[in-house]
Amino acid sequence: MTAALLSLRGVRFGYPSRPVFEQVDFELHPGERVALLGANGVGKTSLLHLFVGLLRPDAGCIRAFGRERAHERDFREVRAKAGLLFQDPDDQLFCPTVLEDVAFGPLNLGMGRDAALQVARSTLAELGLATFADRVTHKLSGGEKRLVSLATVLAMKPEVLLLDEPSNGLDEATLQRLLDHLEQLPQAMVLVSHDARLIERLANRAVLLQDGRLTEALLHRHPHAHAHTHLHAHLPGHEGEHAHTDGLIAPLPALPGKTVSTRR
Ligand SMILES: Nc1ncnc2c1ncn2[C@@H]1O[C@H](COP(=O)(O)OP(=O)(O)O)[C@@H](O)[C@H]1O
Ligand SMILES: [Mg+2]
Repeated sequence: MTAALLSLRGVRFGYPSRPVFEQVDFELHPGERVALLGANGVGKTSLLHLFVGLLRPDAGCIRAFGRERAHERDFREVRAKAGLLFQDPDDQLFCPTVLEDVAFGPLNLGMGRDAALQVARSTLAELGLATFADRVTHKLSGGEKRLVSLATVLAMKPEVLLLDEPSNGLDEATLQRLLDHLEQLPQAMVLVSHDARLIERLANRAVLLQDGRLTEALLHRHPHAHAHTHLHAHLPGHEGEHAHTDGLIAPLPALPGKTVSTRR
């Protein structure tokens, strides 16, 4: 097997007020896209932050890109190679404009200003965000901030992507665009997500964090058929534009001011 890009051995971690992990072992190898699953508050974000040295373990060993990492100078190198998409975009974005935010990483890695701006523009264009360059970052919507945050990560051309709930706040079309983009990226990834569509499209391995321990999980699909309803809104007089029943299920009565359809 290839050498691990990232590994945790016997990692224990807790906040002063709260233990989080007792003993975590994990390896990320090239080509892996690992879904990191677990309930709210179980420690998924903390685990990603441990990988890049934003938090330090109480015990155990962290290796990244072939070396053991323990000190701030070690982790500076790790942060240049492992791009972390923060759960909250406001933790990621701090420049006045989108272009400056996306250029910040390449500049910080020592790239000249013109080259960094060029990388920033091309990264924005790859994500369909070319027109966002001069937008004021703090005025973007939540979903827009999430995509711009991803651009700031990808502009650094990281070897590994650590994505903390990347599909939060995205509408359906934007989610599909994000998935199309992430799917064709070559980097190994750790994906924290509760979104089954994202996990199904992207993950080729899954691990479950539970009770302070990390275990391998099986991703599987099983047939599951049931009738369900879709709530959606129409302008008055446009009800006929799509089928409201497949013929197997009786249509539900309309809610006041809304139209309700049933599908199978
Ligand atoms: N800075 C902090 N100080 C104290 N407790 C924290 C801090 N950050 C997170 N926690 C707690 O640690 C646990 C793990 O948090 P987190 O890693 O954010 O979980 P997840 O991402 O799985 O929802 C939670 O109970 C959370 O409330
Ligand atoms: Mg989290």
